[in-house]
Amino acid sequence: MSIREETLKILEENRGADVSGAEIARRLGVSRSAVWKAVSALKADGHTILAGTNRGYCLAAESGALSVPEIQKYLKTPCTLVLKKAVTSTNDVAKDLAEEGAAEWTVVIAREQTAGKGRQGRQFYSPADTGIYMSIVLRPAFPPAQALLITTAAAVAVAQALEQLGCPDPAIKWVNDVYSGGKKVCGILTEGAFDFESGRFRYAVLGIGINLSAPAGGFPGELREKAGAAFAAGEPLKNRLAAAVIDNFARFYAALPEKPHLALYRQRSMLTGKTVLIPGPKGERTAQALGIDDDFRLLVASPDGTREALSSGEVSVKLFQ
Ligand code: BTN
Repeated sequence: MSIREETLKILEENRGADVSGAEIARRLGVSRSAVWKAVSALKADGHTILAGTNRGYCLAAESGALSVPEIQKYLKTPCTLVLKKAVTSTNDVAKDLAEEGAAEWTVVIAREQTAGKGRQGRQFYSPADTGIYMSIVLRPAFPPAQALLITTAAAVAVAQALEQLGCPDPAIKWVNDVYSGGKKVCGILTEGAFDFESGRFRYAVLGIGINLSAPAGGFPGELREKAGAAFAAGEPLKNRLAAAVIDNFARFYAALPEKPHLALYRQRSMLTGKTVLIPGPKGERTAQALGIDDDFRLLVASPDGTREALSSGEVSVKLFQ
């Protein structure tokens, strides 16, 4: 652990109470100026640390900044957490770590992404401190053909975690967006690397982006219509939410080929019973969404009664307004 991390750990242990710089310096075996530097860096990372002459340092009780010790406090799944202030994309950082041999359950979390990636080559808007952007390194034993199970389990895990923390009615829009209040509050992007000889995963990276609160000035441009925040105001929940998402997902992942999340996915599917727009070569057509089949395909009925099962890799549908 770095001096900064060790200092944060001590402040976390004494959250809400003063700890003198001399005491931290003594415990870490470093100078008081090294502690001062570490505290300055922690403040720059967004931690609210109060300091006064002869008072020492005090991590504010309401400091909502993402922090490894805080996430660990709530987390049940054994993980290696890597927290970054800003990265291009946590998926890219996680892929680099996976290539270097990082273990399964290495989790990269960032306060901001400067080039967050969405599905189908889109960007994922990831401003500082209003969301959780994280990527989990997985080394699945099941075949890549079942990769959709990762994404769909993550969608249920996020929806459950949001609900646990008070987000109103989180629902899943097939295949892996989470909505609340009619707006998208979470997107999921799973990427993988494969061994072509064995046909197995070398690793997969599960990327999850959650809009926790609205960015200052609101969401930009065309996102304004579609994107929303899971919570009304800036909530000091980030650490608990990150832990809950990881733990919920870990429960499903342990038995993933058995689809332990299928029934829960169906319960939370917001398209079921609705009219949807399906893109096609001749433009969009409407259909009635009937439900989700055992392979997480969307079952739809056309106006003439024809039924079909849509695969997520081939088509993405819109809700007919
Ligand atoms: C989508 O909505 O199309 C998927 C968005 C996925 C965003 C997450 S944020 C963490 C991880 N890093 C990325 O660059 N993308 C994913």
